[in-house]
Amino acid sequence: MCGIVGYIGTQQAAPLIVSGLKRLEYRGYDSAGVCIISDSGLRIEKKAGRVAALEKFVDIDSLSGTVGVGHTRWATHGLPNDVNAHPHTDQSGSIALVHNGIIENYVTIKKKLLNAGYTFRSETDSEVLAVFIGMLYDQLNDVELAVRTALSEVEGTFGLVVVSTHEPDMIIAARRGSPLILGIGNGEYLVASDAAAVIAHTRQVVYLNENEMAILRRDGFTTKTIENVKTRSVVEEVSFELEQIEKGGFEHFMLKEIFEQPTTFHDGFRGRLQIEEGTVRLGGLTSVVDKLRAAKRIIITACGTSWHAALVGEYLIEHLARVPVEVEYASEFRYRNPIINSDDIVIAISQSGETADTLAAIREAQLKGATVLGMVNVVGSTIARETDAGVYLHAGPEIGVASTKAFTSQLCVLTQFALYLGRMRALSAEQGREIARELALIPEHIRTILRGADEVRRIAHEYSSVSNFLYLGRGFNFPAALEGALKLKEISYIHAEGYPAAEMKHGPIALIDDNMPVIFIAPKDEIYEKVLTNIQEVRARSGKVIAIADEEDEYIASIANHVIRIPRTLPMLTPILASIPLQLLAYYIAVERGCNVDMPRNLAKSVTVE
Ligand code: M6R
Repeated sequence: MCGIVGYIGTQQAAPLIVSGLKRLEYRGYDSAGVCIISDSGLRIEKKAGRVAALEKFVDIDSLSGTVGVGHTRWATHGLPNDVNAHPHTDQSGSIALVHNGIIENYVTIKKKLLNAGYTFRSETDSEVLAVFIGMLYDQLNDVELAVRTALSEVEGTFGLVVVSTHEPDMIIAARRGSPLILGIGNGEYLVASDAAAVIAHTRQVVYLNENEMAILRRDGFTTKTIENVKTRSVVEEVSFELEQIEKGGFEHFMLKEIFEQPTTFHDGFRGRLQIEEGTVRLGGLTSVVDKLRAAKRIIITACGTSWHAALVGEYLIEHLARVPVEVEYASEFRYRNPIINSDDIVIAISQSGETADTLAAIREAQLKGATVLGMVNVVGSTIARETDAGVYLHAGPEIGVASTKAFTSQLCVLTQFALYLGRMRALSAEQGREIARELALIPEHIRTILRGADEVRRIAHEYSSVSNFLYLGRGFNFPAALEGALKLKEISYIHAEGYPAAEMKHGPIALIDDNMPVIFIAPKDEIYEKVLTNIQEVRARSGKVIAIADEEDEYIASIANHVIRIPRTLPMLTPILASIPLQLLAYYIAVERGCNVDMPRNLAKSVTVE
C-alpha cells in the first residue's frame, strides 16, 4: 500500500527520495509525489500513476534541497488523481505531510475547519490532517507541538512524515498502526515505511514503536511518545541484502521468488529440524512451552494466502498433535466477539507482519487473555513485535505482490510447529523422524519440479485465453487448490475458484463444459481413488483436466488431458509440492496475457487498511 520516504542530510534529497520510492513500488500504489524544502519554500510535485510518470512530468534533479519527503499513494479517500496524491499542505503552504493509514474522524475535524473558514483542495483525509496541523501551528507557533496536538486528537492510523519551512532543518515522523523505520546514516537520516527504501544507504535502522514519534535533524534524532515522554530507541541491523530486493536476471520478481524456493524452504528449517530426534527446535517458542503443552485449542487467524496456509496448518496440527484447530479470517475474527479461553493459543500468520485485519485480530485475542504467537516473514514488523512469541519464516524479502515463497515457507514452519507439538504429545520418535526426513528432502523435490517449468509454460500457453478455471483438491490439498485459484485470479484476472474436489457435484459441476479447464491435485494418498472418480465426472462432461500427480502414476495420464508431475512425498507435504506448478501456471498465463505480474491492478503487497 502507500509508501513513505523522507530524507534530511547533505545530499540532494529529491533523487534519493525518488529512488527510495521506486524500491517501494512493489507495495502497490496509484500516484506519487515529492516535497522538497527549497530556498524559495516548499516545492511540491505530484502525479497520478507510477513514479515514472512523476519523473516524466518533472525533472527530479531540478528539485534542489537537502530535506524532503516522498510518497506513493494507494487510494482510499478520493480518486487516484494528481490533486489527491501526497504530499498535502496546510492552508499557508508552509507545512507538508505524507500519510499512510486512515484518519477515521476526518469528517468531524474537516467540519470544524470548514466552519473556521479553511478550504480544501483534495478529497483526502490526509489533507484534513495537514490543514489541522497548520491551524494548530498558527495558535501554538511550534511545529512539533502542533503535530503532537493534532495527533492526540485524531482517531485512526498513521505513519506520518511532516516537513515545514518554519523549521527547515527538521523532519518529524510519527506512527500509530502503520510502520515507520528510521535509517541512521552519518550526518543524514532517512525515514521510510519499509526497510527496502533505506537499505541502499544504510543498514542501521530504528523501528518506531506504536504511538512514537521521531524528530530528525542533521546532527541527531530524538524519539518520544506522542504524549511527549522521551523514549529510548534501539538501533538494529537490517537482516537482508540489497540483491535480495533486486530481480537478479529474472524477468519478474515473482518468477525469481518461485525459483528461490529450494533455498527459502531450506532456510525455514535450517537449524530447527532435528532429524535424529524426530523433532524440531523452535527457539522463538521457548517462553511459551508450558502454554503449548497445556493448550486445549488453537485458533489460527490470517488473510489471503496466509489464510490458505493456516488451513493446511489446521490439517497438520490436528493430524500430528491431535489438538483441535479453528481457522478464522482475521477480518471476521476481529469483529465477531470470538469466544477465547485463557488456555487457547492464537496464531497469526502473515508475510508482511503489517496486515491491518490480522493485527486487529491479535489485539482482540490478547485482550481476551489468549497466548498469541506469530508466524511472520518480515523481521521487526508490527505483528512480530506485538505477539507473545513466534517463529520467523526466513523467506527473505518477498517483492512480488502475489505471495509465493512466503506461502511455502509458511507451510514449512507450520509443519515443524505441528511436529513440535505432536512430539510433546502422542507422536513417537519414529513417526517424528520419518516426517523430519521427508521435510528435509523437500528443497530437492522443489528443484525437480522447477526443472519441469517449460512443460507448465506449454500448458499455460494452451489455456491463456480461457475465462474460467476450477481448482480441485482434497484433504491437505484442498487449501492448495484455493491458493492455486487465488494466484491465477490475482495476476491474470481470470476468474478461478477452488473447491474440495468432492464438492464439485454439489454445484460447480454445472459450469463444466468443453471450455472449462479443471485442475486436479491428485497425489497418491488415501483419497486418490475418490479424486479419480471426480476426474471421470469432469471428463464425462467434456471438461479439460490438468492433473498434478505423482511421478510414477501412469494411470492418470490415460484420463487427464495434461499431467504435471511432482515427486513422491508424505501426503501431508504434498500441498508444498503441488503449489509450485500452480504458481508457475499462474505466472506463465499472466505473462501470456500481458499482465503486470509483479504489480497486479488494484492489489497491494501489504494491506494496512481495513
Ligand atoms: O502479509 P500477509 O501475509 O498478512 O498478507 C495477507 C494477504 O493480503 C496476502 O496473502 C494476499 O492475499 C496476497 N496478495 C496473496 O498473494
